[in-house]
Amino acid sequence: MSTTTRENWTSKRNFILAAAGSAVGLGNIWKFPYIAGENGGAAFLIIYVICILMIGIPILNLEILLGRETQKNPVGAFKQLSTNPLWQYVGGLGVVASFTILSFYSVVGGWSIAYMLEAINGTFKGFENPQVAGEFFNLKNSNANWVLGFHTLFFLITVGIILSGVRKGLEKVSRYLMPLLLLILFFLVFQGLFLPESEKGLEFLFAPDWSKINAQTFLLALGHAFFTLSLGMGAMMTYGSYLSKKDDIVHASNIIAFLDTFIAILAGVAIFTVVFSSGYSPTAGPGLVFHVLPPLLAKLPLGYIMSIMFFLLLSIAAITSAISILEVSVAYLMDEFSFSRKRATSIMSIAVYLAAIPCALSFNVLSDVTLNIGAKPYTIFDIFDYLASNIYLPLGGFFIALFVGHAWGVDKAIKGLLMGDSNNSRFGNSIFKNATVVSVFGFLVKFISPLLIFLVFLYQFGLI
Ligand code: TRP
Repeated sequence: MSTTTRENWTSKRNFILAAAGSAVGLGNIWKFPYIAGENGGAAFLIIYVICILMIGIPILNLEILLGRETQKNPVGAFKQLSTNPLWQYVGGLGVVASFTILSFYSVVGGWSIAYMLEAINGTFKGFENPQVAGEFFNLKNSNANWVLGFHTLFFLITVGIILSGVRKGLEKVSRYLMPLLLLILFFLVFQGLFLPESEKGLEFLFAPDWSKINAQTFLLALGHAFFTLSLGMGAMMTYGSYLSKKDDIVHASNIIAFLDTFIAILAGVAIFTVVFSSGYSPTAGPGLVFHVLPPLLAKLPLGYIMSIMFFLLLSIAAITSAISILEVSVAYLMDEFSFSRKRATSIMSIAVYLAAIPCALSFNVLSDVTLNIGAKPYTIFDIFDYLASNIYLPLGGFFIALFVGHAWGVDKAIKGLLMGDSNNSRFGNSIFKNATVVSVFGFLVKFISPLLIFLVFLYQFGLI
């Protein structure tokens, strides 16, 4: 039975770093480049940015707000704010989504740690081009023990941090490592820009070819906007629940969204300059980053150290995100069943660990188990990703917008958002003193976000 009071962040700055740590992760560096690569590059980027602005940022504000208002996990938050018990299922959906996401996320997290060790071994020195690196990646993944082992290691680290709690665990890891990650990305971008024919990569990422766009692109861009900002399953709600009423949510959300998008674009530049310069295919799929970056890193001045640093930071970015995913279900058990942190973490991590095993095996033992979605065969790993990003998260976001827009009330939301010291007049909550901003926000939350998400759903299930 936990009788202690709820933990909270030591400062708003540390909250921002932890929330940005949640947002910035494999989604930015591993996933964004590969789905942009498969879906037309620039055209995808533009639709994705529109989704971030029109749907992502408003919902980010709302999630943090609902958490801060109630100081509860997603299920408890809805229970507290509404007498209609149906809303709690939205929180419950978040707990299910946290299982699904972590299952494939920790496989990729495991790859990152494995690659850090390969970097220490000096393996990348022999990689002349992405083709060679790609073969190495596939060979490694054909070994089930390799994938499972590193997945387990990644998982144990995540669980260790969660066990340490909010201040000692969640906060500390994010504080110093985010700036370091940015620095390395700058190096990679700089290096990438000087490669022969790097302009082709830039063109791919920034000059849209609209003929590549179809309805599926909207679906993926919307799903990715949710995934990359950690929205739709109550992760930001849970982090917001450790936040004090003194803090300006609007300012925090703007910084988080900006940083997140900026880092994805940097990763895109770093990767597509190499892809096009080496004649590689931008559509290589989930392995893309692991095929493309080792040869680039190996060529950098101080390449040996850079490769180690890069994969170390990628692992850390993955860990600071993974903890936010697991924290949702841990907070749920702690709040709703009065479990201690230790007990809640043990139960949830064993359950998630088991759920993740089929994902780890889908690159080897279970690689033949596939399901066709559209014309493409999806492995178990792909299906988990698809279910989470393109169904659970947008659905969660849809209900959060509906809840605030039509049940709880936009007025209450605006009032809540205005609470907290704004020391930044341009990007902080004082923008909500402007009547136009208030009406645009209300309109987005009440109508635009739910409608767009709904349309994308209709399409997804073949209804339009
Ligand atoms: N946003 C993270 C990334 O881009 C992943 C993530 C962390 C996440 N917490 C989440 C995704 C909650 C969805 C929901 O890598």
